[in-house]
Amino acid sequence: MEFYEVINSRKTIREFENENIPEEAIERIISAAFKAPTNDHMRDWHYIIVRDKNVTAKLLDIIPKGISDDDMEQLIKDWNLSDLLQQECYRNAVPKQYRMLFDASAIIIPLLKQKTDILHPENISHLNGFASIWCSIENIFLAATAEGYGCNLRVPLGDEEEYARKVLGFPEDYFMPCFIGIGKPRKDAVPVKQKEISVKERIHWDKFC
Ligand SMILES: Cc1cc2nc3c(=O)[nH]c(=O)nc-3n(C[C@H](O)[C@H](O)[C@H](O)COP(=O)(O)O)c2cc1C
Repeated sequence: MEFYEVINSRKTIREFENENIPEEAIERIISAAFKAPTNDHMRDWHYIIVRDKNVTAKLLDIIPKGISDDDMEQLIKDWNLSDLLQQECYRNAVPKQYRMLFDASAIIIPLLKQKTDILHPENISHLNGFASIWCSIENIFLAATAEGYGCNLRVPLGDEEEYARKVLGFPEDYFMPCFIGIGKPRKDAVPVKQKEISVKERIHWDKFC
């Protein structure tokens, strides 16, 4: 796939075919992750690939299986989601948090060695390690798209990270930014429409105004 075709094709996928991903494809995708820019040149990253459905079921046991209509409406109010397309995105995504990961062919858990307190950073550079792993996550999404796969992600809420640490056995000094579901997009999967952006209005030549 041509580079801009990959960029334009990448969409969050929450419905998957029941199909395995060959190990070599996963290795190519994770190799792409390691090509991302990094703050300290070390790329002290690891990726756990969960394929065993027993482990998957245990890992996801903590994630809510759905949401009632009333709770969904309350969430939209509490989070001040006023934009209609944004509301559509949340209405689509929130009820699928469990299934989009359970039905994926694999769950990728990126891990970074956390040297600073990212929840209480002293300055912006204390977030560099966290920013760097997110660059690697985008490479995963793009490489997966180029390979004909699709991805979704969930940022762990509440105790989900500590629970995942227990299930998967990753060390205390490694931090998990998200769960990534990866698989072959189901034929009837319809990604949520992206908001249209006027690029010309967002580019500021020399000065903001
Ligand atoms: C930092 C970040 C956090 C996100 N958290 C979640 C999440 O917890 N659950 C989810 O289903 N999608 C999550 N997403 C995916 C977004 O919902 C999705 O990227 C967005 O709606 C745009 O849709 P697109 O990826 O199809 O362009 C997250 C994306 C980012 C970049």
